[in-house]
Amino acid sequence: MRDVKLTDIFNHHIAQKYITRSGLAHALAVSYHAFEMAKEQNLDVDIAAKAGFLHDMGHYTWYKDGKWDYKLYKQNDIHPIKGAERAHKLLIRLGENPIKAKEIALAVLFHTDSFIPGGSVTLTPLQKIVKLADEKDEEPGGHHHYRTITKERAQKSLERLDEKIDAYVLHQQKTL
Ligand SMILES: [Fe+2]
Repeated sequence: MRDVKLTDIFNHHIAQKYITRSGLAHALAVSYHAFEMAKEQNLDVDIAAKAGFLHDMGHYTWYKDGKWDYKLYKQNDIHPIKGAERAHKLLIRLGENPIKAKEIALAVLFHTDSFIPGGSVTLTPLQKIVKLADEKDEEPGGHHHYRTITKERAQKSLERLDEKIDAYVLHQQKTL
């Protein structure tokens, strides 16, 4: 049995604050994509889905004179670092297994290489999945951050994904 479900994360006020800020619909889509990809590669679907859901929670809004300033964002953004820290803190508070919390936080940290000076890092298969899942849902001009979904629909959608994860984890345990 999992210690923490996606719906537990979603219903925490920290997640409500930060995940809605960077786009709840995007977080959900990335979580679903990451789940499907992890399933295909026989990796930990729970870690993948959670990292996908939390990956952008480090975002900060960069405004200048009331307008989003992309240049300022590019220059100063550290959302993967902030996100990894916030995700880890939230998961530990919710009672997540510390080994899982660490893996999820690292997948959040490496979901983009935009902040790594001069190059890239060698990602684990799971970290690669979260990066690809994010890229799969990206829209030009950052529009994926502005797609909307009601909290009720998001809740239903996360409940469905939690069921899928539980069913898959059970199936994996049986085939071991
Ligand atoms: Fe993203």
